[in-house]
Amino acid sequence: MKSKIDEILRVDHAGETGASKIYEGQIKVLGNTEVGPMLRHMRDQEQEHLDTFHELLNKHETRPTALMPLWNFAGYSLGVVTALMGKKAAMACTIAVEEVIGKHYHEQAETLTEKKHSKLKKTLLKFRDDELEHKDIATTNEGEKTPGYKLMKFVIQSGCKVAIKLSEKI
Ligand SMILES: [Fe+2]
Ligand SMILES: [Fe+2]
Repeated sequence: MKSKIDEILRVDHAGETGASKIYEGQIKVLGNTEVGPMLRHMRDQEQEHLDTFHELLNKHETRPTALMPLWNFAGYSLGVVTALMGKKAAMACTIAVEEVIGKHYHEQAETLTEKKHSKLKKTLLKFRDDELEHKDIATTNEGEKTPGYKLMKFVIQSGCKVAIKLSEKI
């Protein structure tokens, strides 16, 4: 179970790194528009999530993924590029990413059945709810109405799934 917990902490730490970088990138482009406060709200929550996993990695003496530089770069680039495509595209990116992460946290939480993991489970479920709130914000802000929404969602979600698989192991 130790290695299973290590995998959970490693991949979640990686994911939250990517997520906070996506919002950083979007804030860089759209920070001074009407979606700025919303993007900052989501970025701040991702930072809280990231800090939590950072602490847990230290506590469990688990190393972060070796792919950190890649997720930093990939997250930031994805944020900048989608924001340059417009506000709705930025929101479409959020829908795509948060749907995958929300489901990911939900599935991880379900694997934690032992009492000694109840605290981690609670954390994962709280974060799942935060991510689904982000998805709702993006849906309300017409992310689904960006041109090429379906293709964009497919591409981003495929990338997220590959990133998750890699970060569990590497
Ligand atoms: Fe998050
Ligand atoms: Fe999120």
